Amino acid sequence: FEGMTIVELAKHAGEPITTLQDIVVNVGEKVTSEFDPLSIDVAELVAMEIGLNVRRIHSNEGTDIVPRAPVITVMGHVDHGKTSLLDALRQTSVAAKEAGGITQHLGAFVVGMSSGASITFLDTPGHAAFSAMRARGAAVTDIVVLVVAADDGVMPQTLEAMSHAKEANVPIVVAINKCDKPAADPERVKTQLGAEGLELEDLGGNVQVVEVSAVKKTGLDDLETALLIQAEMMDLKARIDGPAQAYVVEARLDKGRGPLATAIVKAGTLVCGQHVVVGSQWGRIRAIRDGMGKLTEQARPAMPVEIEGLKGLPMAGDDIVVVDSEERARMLSSGRKRKFDKDRLIKINEERIETLEPSE
Ligand code: GTP
Ligand code: MG
Repeated sequence: FEGMTIVELAKHAGEPITTLQDIVVNVGEKVTSEFDPLSIDVAELVAMEIGLNVRRIHSNEGTDIVPRAPVITVMGHVDHGKTSLLDALRQTSVAAKEAGGITQHLGAFVVGMSSGASITFLDTPGHAAFSAMRARGAAVTDIVVLVVAADDGVMPQTLEAMSHAKEANVPIVVAINKCDKPAADPERVKTQLGAEGLELEDLGGNVQVVEVSAVKKTGLDDLETALLIQAEMMDLKARIDGPAQAYVVEARLDKGRGPLATAIVKAGTLVCGQHVVVGSQWGRIRAIRDGMGKLTEQARPAMPVEIEGLKGLPMAGDDIVVVDSEERARMLSSGRKRKFDKDRLIKINEERIETLEPSE
């Protein structure tokens, strides 16, 4: 809706012009003429107020579009070896340090591949309780690595991950892990996946399958190649200049530093000092840290960073939008909060009506 006038927006939404004028005044903007183009922030607010679901699409016109690293999310059933596989790929040991060896959050980091290419990986938890987190992981990613233990085979969260990937329209590369185990049966896993509708390469489809062992570090080169082939086919590119469009993959509260969000920039450049709206939260970016915890001035596409300076805790999956001023940030954030609250009320009411209806 950027650049639309009130008249045009009113026509689009089928609302009276005066209603929209009132909203614009309510959000603290001066209306000079209903024929003046609205800024993108005000347009978003007005659209939300009249109940439209809006999503910002940035134009790439006149800017440099350059290749970017793929963002790849590792998914699969609990304990099938997702974190171990990532550890093996980056040769560290996160799995051993985790409480009970169970991943409880979304981690993000860049792995430099032996071929010189780099890949941004997101780890996700396999535990049944973290379904929403996996759905968000699938939504911000280019490719899903579906990890299936060769001894255990296809399990409930394997299927769940498959459906998240399908819903988000993200291609899958299968990694059959734990192939070192005596009970490993990769052929059985392939048959199971095929039966679930995954079109594996072995069976004439286009889903690549690689047999690996995170512990014995076998098949890792093949996995790397498969991922780079998949990424190459997708021809991933991003605009570098201009305002950042980014997503939160993880957020936590630090006692000293306040709310911290791990974010991945999808396009543009996020710069220290900018005012941002993150989901329904807002803030001014006080510090940006790269994957190694080092302070940096800016974040470019596919680079996972930690940002500091938000006033509240955002949620994984929230979008990050750069705005001109603190005033705009506050305004947009409170507009979004109102919309979220309204949507939540509607949902609660719908559920209530459903439970009140006689079940025959
Ligand atoms: P969640 O994050 O809780 O879903 O688990 P995960 O999928 O990240 O599994 P994790 O990497 O924590 O590994 C679970 C267990 O499987 C650990 O005890 C690992 O040592 C073991 N494991 C992982 N990969 C392999 C493998 O290739 N071979 C063998 N034998 N064991 C493995
Ligand atoms: Mg894990």
